[in-house]
Amino acid sequence: MNKIDYQNKSVGELAASRPMSIHVYKQLGIDFCCGGGRPLMVALEEKGVLIEEFDRKLQSIEAERGTIGQIDFREMSSGQLSSYIEDTHHAFLRDQLPRESELLQMVLNAHGRAHRELFEVYRLFGQLKTDLEQHLLKEENLLFPALQDAPGEEDTRQLAIEIVEEHEAAGEILATLHRITGDFAIPEDACETYRIAYDLLNAIEQDINQHIHLENNILLKETIDDV
Ligand SMILES: [Fe+2]
Ligand SMILES: [Fe+2]
Repeated sequence: MNKIDYQNKSVGELAASRPMSIHVYKQLGIDFCCGGGRPLMVALEEKGVLIEEFDRKLQSIEAERGTIGQIDFREMSSGQLSSYIEDTHHAFLRDQLPRESELLQMVLNAHGRAHRELFEVYRLFGQLKTDLEQHLLKEENLLFPALQDAPGEEDTRQLAIEIVEEHEAAGEILATLHRITGDFAIPEDACETYRIAYDLLNAIEQDINQHIHLENNILLKETIDDV
């Protein structure tokens, strides 16, 4: 792999060009999807991590996992990437959001008395689910066709900005869910359903992070930057 010019890269640009950096971001707690526009050096400084340490971690994870066979999403046309996102991430959310909602309702019914935060967890998740359901349709019916048919137009750019704002709103709900659940901690008296519900919530969040990364840092990057 070539030497990286870290100094002039944003968090999201590096995530796009060196996908293994996402694992390092996760280890360090660096937001690479909604926070992808920030300079990498600023994000590392906030976490008190030196660039040499970050570079060492990235090199070692690339050596361990290998980079051959990885999909390079930057090589895809916007039509191909939109289809990929729809087939994988949108399909995942359409399967799993209703499932998680049912699980959380069962957990709330069984444990809400002992764990009062579950009322708020259920309400916030419901909001996230509704927000995302309309968001997926907005992308499929408006954004993705506009990227094909009118890529340089102001309407398309405005739509892209709106979409990125909706990503930020989803990110804020997830951050609140983290806070009120102590990072999705499973209490000692939890039943199996409780554990499954929180594990799935975690998996949904991971998937959303990758999904937003592909949209903000790759699919929409040129449209948003093209002011
Ligand atoms: Fe999407
Ligand atoms: Fe999106």
